[in-house]
Amino acid sequence: MPNPSGGHTPHATPASPSGRPDDVTVGYEALVAFTAEVFGDRGVPAGRARTAAEALVYGDLTGLTSHGLTNLTRLYLPAMDDGRIDPLAEPEKVTDTGPAVLLDGRRSLGLWSAAEALTLAADRAETTGIAMVTLRNATHFGCAGFHTGRIAERGMVAFLASNCGGQRILRPPGGRAAMLGTNPFSVAAPAGEHEPYILDMSTSVVPTGRVRAAAREGRPVPEGWLEDAEGRTVTDPHTLDEGTGYLRWLGGDPSTGAYKGYGLGLMVEVLAALVPGAGFGPAPEALDGDGRPTGRDDDIGITALVLAPGTLRPGQDVRADADGLFGSLLDCPPMDPARPVSYPGRPEAAAAERNRRDGVPLAAERYEELRTLAAERGLDAPPLLTGGAR
Ligand SMILES: NC(=O)c1ccc[n+]([C@@H]2O[C@H](COP(=O)([O-])OP(=O)(O)OC[C@H]3O[C@@H](n4cnc5c(N)ncnc54)[C@H](O)[C@@H]3O)[C@@H](O)[C@H]2O)c1
Repeated sequence: MPNPSGGHTPHATPASPSGRPDDVTVGYEALVAFTAEVFGDRGVPAGRARTAAEALVYGDLTGLTSHGLTNLTRLYLPAMDDGRIDPLAEPEKVTDTGPAVLLDGRRSLGLWSAAEALTLAADRAETTGIAMVTLRNATHFGCAGFHTGRIAERGMVAFLASNCGGQRILRPPGGRAAMLGTNPFSVAAPAGEHEPYILDMSTSVVPTGRVRAAAREGRPVPEGWLEDAEGRTVTDPHTLDEGTGYLRWLGGDPSTGAYKGYGLGLMVEVLAALVPGAGFGPAPEALDGDGRPTGRDDDIGITALVLAPGTLRPGQDVRADADGLFGSLLDCPPMDPARPVSYPGRPEAAAAERNRRDGVPLAAERYEELRTLAAERGLDAPPLLTGGAR
């Protein structure tokens, strides 16, 4: 197989650090630079393209691969080519009360505009203690935790949520028709000396990307992820896109907490879409002329909220308090000594540290997509560190 920079010398390479035999690894910086070039090639300005690339590669860097580079050729590039994402659009201020800002996202690249929204909220919260920036007409922001984590690094607490516009994937418990999206949200906070706390999750049991990955790899999904029309568990991942399988809410069944997941999904719909006036899953516009869901995640709503405890408690050592809070959890005696107690954000931080050092693992299929894209657009694919044919 020819190598991306023109050589033709396949040779044996060490196993990938991910442990999956078919994975290859690519250096983090090279992967981000390539992804930024791909966005730039579609007309995204350089600074914006770099932020968007970091946001997208974050998924592969941290192991949240359902929202990493797999979405480059499946979601972002097709949406740009269809005009559903505008690479040059500047979000426009609709209302600005100081601590609260409403923006029309104007279909700008969500991977970038969500970062901008949180940065603006954080800049204001430093003075006011709290600030919110909310967007309608936004587009997909990737991993919520990439964006909130950057604010935790500034010593503040961040919340970010996005609905899925008019996309209908999940049914209300007991309902026959899908009406809501996987509605992700993230809360991040500094944790003193420790890695930041970054809760980052879909409000469904898993995002659709995890089901589609199983379908591509030809393996069943665990019981509890999907149900059929009558609510019985199904494990065939193809049923999701065939329209006979439905994702379950976090909690799974009503007896094990589905109403909590559903309630959190609605929390996101209210905070991220009702507040800015974005599209809703349950809105009539989410159906086509024949009453079928359009499946379109257009007019997404995003809400970014930042709280600055340091501004509210001047002179007090918030960092030391956070250190104590999260440090105590880490000191909890584990049931299994081989598996120390953790908290959200830590597994991703550990993966990021390892993958920055050893290379970012990518499925061979994913790397092949990047290589094909590079060849089509006259770009240099990022070189392999391990795996495949270099
Ligand atoms: N933009 C969108 O429309 C959209 C939709 C759905 C999901 N997403 C993104 O998909 C990504 C994956 O979502 P997910 O629901 O599959 O997340 P997940 O189930 O992989 O993780 C959820 C949370 O649990 C924590 N966690 C998991 N295992 C842990 C452990 N062993 N110890 C401590 N904490 C642990 C993680 O740190 C994370 O905060 C997220 O980044 C999310 O924002 C985006």
